[in-house]
Amino acid sequence: MSFWPGRLLVLSLTSALCCDWLSHYGQLSNKSLTLIDRMGGELTEEENPLSFPNRFYRRIRNKGVVSQLVFIRDSLKLIANLFEHANLSAANWDNDTTENFLTIIDRQIDELDSCVSTNRTANSQLEKYYKRLERSTVQRRGGSAASWELLRKDTKRHLVLLDMLVNSIRAPAAVGRRRSAAH
Ligand SMILES: *[C@@H]1O[C@H](CO)[C@@H](O)[C@H](O)[C@H]1NC(C)=O
Ligand SMILES: *[C@@H]1O[C@H](CO)[C@@H](O)[C@H](O)[C@H]1NC(C)=O
Ligand SMILES: *[C@@H]1O[C@H](CO)[C@@H](O)[C@H](O)[C@H]1NC(C)=O
Ligand SMILES: *[C@@H]1O[C@H](CO)[C@@H](O)[C@H](O)[C@H]1NC(C)=O
Repeated sequence: MSFWPGRLLVLSLTSALCCDWLSHYGQLSNKSLTLIDRMGGELTEEENPLSFPNRFYRRIRNKGVVSQLVFIRDSLKLIANLFEHANLSAANWDNDTTENFLTIIDRQIDELDSCVSTNRTANSQLEKYYKRLERSTVQRRGGSAASWELLRKDTKRHLVLLDMLVNSIRAPAAVGRRRSAAH
């Protein structure tokens, strides 16, 4: 069950913090997408045997905005977890670029946390999926360079879809602002 009644949902979105977050988010998201490309070489052609969960993104499209923001925040937290406490030396990624990438992801999470005042996690399916993702890549193949590349590729795909989800939230918000400016 959703913790937020519909009216609060709208209020929390139109708060100053959220407007700030929405306008900065595009830049942060653009940066993290650029950095994940730059931190290593070309993305691998290899496909993960674990199928990509497109269904998560189809489902969340039909949910309320707060649920969508919680989904984005929790996805980013789970993504950060994959990299932050791991020994990445075998991945051979550029150290500074990788650190910058993780810093930007953390900033995206912080801004979302300031916007979404709930600790409710999106869903246990999301957590289970990211555990399977880790198992199917770095754990299964002993943290080899190729397994990190596979993880980087799927992570990039998630970040692109999360970016598209935010754009779909931003679009109606911008229309609302234009409308109120016209009055
Ligand atoms: C980031 O923004 C720049 C300038 O708007 C654009 O050229 C570039 O394609 C964007 N990069 C990504 C990864 O979206
Ligand atoms: C990280 O992994 C490399 C081999 O890939 C190993 O040589 C190094 O000792 C590991 N570092 C730590 C802190 O475990
Ligand atoms: C970058 O290098 C530092 C110092 O060797 C190390 O502690 C850190 O884990 C490295 N970061 C990444 C992302 O590899
Ligand atoms: C949310 O979690 C943080 C840290 O995990 C905690 O400090 C805070 O009190 C929690 N807030 C609520 C509303 O439960």
